[in-house]
Amino acid sequence: MASDPFWLFGYGSLIWKPDLPYSDRVPARLPGWSRRFWQGSHDHRGLPDAPGRVVTLIESAQDRCDGVAYRVPADAAATVLAGLDHREKNGYERHRVKLETSSGEALEALIYVAAPGNFAWLGPAPLAAIAAQIARAQGPSGSNREYLQRLAESLRTLGSDDDHVFALEALLPSDKT
Ligand code: SIN
Repeated sequence: MASDPFWLFGYGSLIWKPDLPYSDRVPARLPGWSRRFWQGSHDHRGLPDAPGRVVTLIESAQDRCDGVAYRVPADAAATVLAGLDHREKNGYERHRVKLETSSGEALEALIYVAAPGNFAWLGPAPLAAIAAQIARAQGPSGSNREYLQRLAESLRTLGSDDDHVFALEALLPSDKT
């Protein structure tokens, strides 16, 4: 597979910060999954003793997750996969899924999903508690607040109606101290 071109679906930081070479970028939706801030981040948006929260996908037949699909060319495939495996090492695993692009085309794509029970799993919590944790957490990649705000901005640009993300954004306490 590493020598073939492939499609990658980004639904979190990969929407606004892909940091990878691609030959095409298209808005897409993933039916049957919903995005949740249920995964701990000890390496990017938090620290081992003060984890942040980042998104993963939960199977949910009636839902869909909006994001962006990138076509990774063959000559970059192996390097991109190695880079993604490193970037998503805090509990995420590769899966293959079927997407629909905004123009109605079907695509098979790779996604990184952090499954319930993985070593960095935090799981559900009241939205206010999740927002408070996000407001506090900082890591080597920056603040957890920035991760949530950039995701919300990207989803608005895509025209997505992700209630979970927008509710958390609205619950973020003021940045001023
Ligand atoms: C993704 O963006 O597709 C995975 C989750 C993340 O890295 O934020």
